[in-house]
Amino acid sequence: MRATLHAFADSLAAAERLANLLGIVCVPIEARRFTDGEALVRVALTETTALLYRSLDHPDGKLIELLFAASALRDRGATRVMLVAPYLCYMRQDTAFRPGECVSQKVIGSLIAAHFDAVITVNPHLHRVESLAQVVPGIPAIAVSAAGTLAEMLRSDITTDTILIGPDVESRLWVQSVAEPLGLSVIVGEKRRLGDREVSLTIPDIERVRGRPVVLVDDLISSGVTLQQSALLLKAAGATLIEACATHCLATASDLRALREAGISRVQSTDTVDGPTASAHIAPALADALTPLFSESSPSSASRKTVSL
Ligand code: R5P
Repeated sequence: MRATLHAFADSLAAAERLANLLGIVCVPIEARRFTDGEALVRVALTETTALLYRSLDHPDGKLIELLFAASALRDRGATRVMLVAPYLCYMRQDTAFRPGECVSQKVIGSLIAAHFDAVITVNPHLHRVESLAQVVPGIPAIAVSAAGTLAEMLRSDITTDTILIGPDVESRLWVQSVAEPLGLSVIVGEKRRLGDREVSLTIPDIERVRGRPVVLVDDLISSGVTLQQSALLLKAAGATLIEACATHCLATASDLRALREAGISRVQSTDTVDGPTASAHIAPALADALTPLFSESSPSSASRKTVSL
């Protein structure tokens, strides 16, 4: 399959890592705003299959540029435009939590399904729907797991007595899939969300952490309060070292400071979202999922240099 990968500046480094693994060219998308705030994007020449790479954290401004880029790629001859969004936005709003709210997940999923021929993402936050395919009706959808990536990231410097902690019951399977290749045991907490920055949390069997190192494992760090509350409980219960890792980290600098103050000595995440904690590359996991599509052919390094703006 002949394909090009197109990326916005905010995702370019991670996109280039994926393109290198797939053996295809990665070209930047030009994007700028007019004085009135409206967006302009300009895409490069494309092969008939275009992979459009953008992580959709802080999504509202990014989404319109993404749709413009998808349209421009089709205008330039792409017959298949696949979205590679390592972090997929609005997945948590999967129901109207209060009367009058929209189901944001449904709106965004339908938008993506209408503009793309396929979507690939990493650990989408799905609670009440079973699969990503239900979110993006009618197009192929691949949800890659970062469990292997996180396990390999942890492997080099954890000890065998480390316990992995999942902060809520929904995280059980996920934390187990990180723990299993490392041969570690797992404890799972019980969490109730009370507000954007307020949770109530208990950790059954917490006495098991006394005198042992722990790593909190979550799919997403947003405000960080879930990990903060967990860390305070673990510290009080006598854990000797508290670290944390997650697939996606959206925390701000001040959120990360609060995590340190709560006793978490290190926070690590994958580069699905760029930032100071993003120490593990997700490109190999994405490439594994995409490689079957590329098995027919991949352009030589000489031809990879021919695509330009
Ligand atoms: C919730 O179900 C997720 O797995 C995360 O625990 C949650 O999104 C983290 O949010 P925050 O960092 O704001 O507590």
